[in-house]
Amino acid sequence: MSEPSASSNDRLAHPYARPWWKDALVYQVYVRSFADSNGDGVGDLAGIRSRLGHIASLGVEAIWLNPCYPSPQHDHGYDVANYFDIHDEYGTLDDFDALLADARNLGIKILMDLVPSHCSIEHRWFIAALASDPNSPERARFYFRDGKGDAGNEPPNNWQSAFGGPAWTRLDADPTANNGKGGQWYLHTFAREQPDLDHTHTDVHQLFDEIFKFWFDRGVEGFRVDAVAGTGKHPDLPDQPPVGPEVGVLDITWMNEYTVFRPEGHDVWRRFRATIDNYESGHPGRELMMVAEAYAVRRPELVKAFTEPDQFHQMFSFDLMLTPWEKHSIEQAMLDPIAILAKTGVPPAWTLNNHDIQRIVTRLGRSDAHLPEIWTNNNLALSRADVDLALGERRARAMAALIFALPGSLYLYQGEELGLPEVFDIPADRREDPVFERTGGAEIGRDGCRVPMPWTNDASSSYGFSTPRADGTVGEPWLPQPTAWGERSVSEIDDIENSTLHMYQSLGEVRDEFAVSQPLEAQTIDIGPEVIAVRRGDLVVVVNPTDEPVQLDLDHRELAITQPVFASEPAEMHTTGVIPANSTIWFSS
Ligand code: GLC
Ligand code: CA
Repeated sequence: MSEPSASSNDRLAHPYARPWWKDALVYQVYVRSFADSNGDGVGDLAGIRSRLGHIASLGVEAIWLNPCYPSPQHDHGYDVANYFDIHDEYGTLDDFDALLADARNLGIKILMDLVPSHCSIEHRWFIAALASDPNSPERARFYFRDGKGDAGNEPPNNWQSAFGGPAWTRLDADPTANNGKGGQWYLHTFAREQPDLDHTHTDVHQLFDEIFKFWFDRGVEGFRVDAVAGTGKHPDLPDQPPVGPEVGVLDITWMNEYTVFRPEGHDVWRRFRATIDNYESGHPGRELMMVAEAYAVRRPELVKAFTEPDQFHQMFSFDLMLTPWEKHSIEQAMLDPIAILAKTGVPPAWTLNNHDIQRIVTRLGRSDAHLPEIWTNNNLALSRADVDLALGERRARAMAALIFALPGSLYLYQGEELGLPEVFDIPADRREDPVFERTGGAEIGRDGCRVPMPWTNDASSSYGFSTPRADGTVGEPWLPQPTAWGERSVSEIDDIENSTLHMYQSLGEVRDEFAVSQPLEAQTIDIGPEVIAVRRGDLVVVVNPTDEPVQLDLDHRELAITQPVFASEPAEMHTTGVIPANSTIWFSS
C-alpha cells in the first residue's frame, strides 16, 4: 500500500493536470445540512469553517457550496433574492470571507453555485415587475405574458413545471384590467417562487457580469452553474407537443424541445465564458472555471456542445450515477464521457451523488439495482424494491473506487464518505422539497438526501450537527434525522477499521499516488467475462459487479507485472487474484 500523503498542500508537488480543475477532487457542501454553529437547527458558514478539517482529510482541492445567497428558501437557495450577499441564517459576507481564507490555508478553493435560469419572487426585479404595468420594462426581464382565452384565464402555453403542475402562475389583478385580459402570467420552469429570467435582456447580461466580478474579487475560483438545460427558450414560447401517458410528471419539462437544450442557451454560456476569460486575463495566476449541471446522460453530442472552448470548462457526467449495477451499463456509462474527452480534451466531472438524487447506497442496495435501463430521477423514486443497505454500501464503495481512478475531476457529495443512505421516514409535515407539495405528495422529492450530517453519536446535539446555544439547548434540525444516524457519524465510523470514511481517505491518497500522474485517458481491457477492467497508463482497475468472488488470471499479460495497491474491501485483499463479490481492486505496475 502507498505511504499516505501528508496534506492537501502536497498536491502542488504532484504532476497534476493543469488547470487544476481538470483532475480536481471537489467536495459538495449542502450548506443547510453540513454543520450548525449556533444551535438553530440550520447549517451555516461558521459551521463549515469548524469542520474544514474533515473535508481536508479527504484530500480535496475545492469545495462547491450549494447556493448560500439571501433567499426565502422555497427551493433551498435555488430561489435567489440577492446574488451579492449571504443568506442571514447562514451568516454574513464576513463569515464567507473567513471561510474562504481558512479553506485557502488548507489549499482548498471555493466554488459557488450560480443560478442563472431564475431568481426568487423576492428579488427586487420581480417585486418591481409586480408593481409595474404589463408592458413595462420591469416585466421585460422575465417572461410575463397575457393568458389565453377571452378573459386571459388560461396559461399562455401548455408548458409544465419541472416540479409538477403548470409552468405558469397568474397574478391577481382586476379582471377588467389589461384590456380585459386581467392579471398576466409569468413563466417558472421550477416552483412558482422561481420566476425565469429572460437572458436576451441586456439588464440580465449586466447582472451576471457583475455577479461573476463580485465573487471572483472575493476569491472564489469558479461556479457550478445550475439548471443549464432549461436556460434559453424558443422566442415564441410555442406549445409543447403532447407527451404520452407513460411520461412521469417530473419528466415532462425535460421533453419540451422549446425550453430544453435550446440554441439560445448557448448564447448565454458564450457570454459567461467571455466574462470569465476576460477576468482571468486581468488576474494572472488565477485559473477560473464553470461546470455545467445538465442531465445529458448518453448524449455525447450535448456534452460536446456545452464544452466547446467558448462555453463551459467542464460538464458533470451523471452517467455513472444513473447507471444500474451491471457490467455492460457501467462500461458504457464510463466510456461515453471518456470518448468525449478523447475528442475534445475536456475531462469529465464524475459524480455519484448530489443533493437532487437518491443516495447511492440505497440505489445500489435495491434488489432491482441491476436492471439494465438508464435510471431517471423518476424511476428511482418509484422503485419499491427491497433495499439491503450493507450490500448497497459495498457496491457504492466499489463504484467510488472505480471513479477515483478515471481521468477527470470528481465531485463528492457530503455524507457519501460516511456511506449515508437515503432517508425515507420523513413525516409529510416535515418535508420541505417543493416537489412534494407541487405533486400533492405523489413524489416524495429530494429531502431524503439532504438530512443534516451526523458528526457524533450524541443525539442531544442532533448528532453533532448543532453546536448548543449558550443555554445548552439546540433547535430541531431543519429535517429530522433517523435514530440510526449516530452510528453512521464521522466520529463513530472513524473508529471502525476499513470504514467507508477510511476508504475515501485512502482513495484520495492512492488517487494522488497512482492515478493523477497517468495520462488523461483510459480504456476498457478484457481480462475476463464477469469483471469490468480499465487501464489508465500504468494503473489497472478491476471491478467485480457480481455477487460471487471471481478468480483473476494473474498471469494475464495485462496484470503480469502489476501489484495490487488498493482494494475497496481491504480486509479481503490478497494476492491470490481472487476479487471479492461487489468490490474493486487497483493494480499498478
Ligand atoms: C438544479 C438544482 C436543484 C434545483 C433546480 C432548480 O437541478 O440542482 O436542486 O431545485 O436546479 O434551481
Ligand atoms: Ca445555524
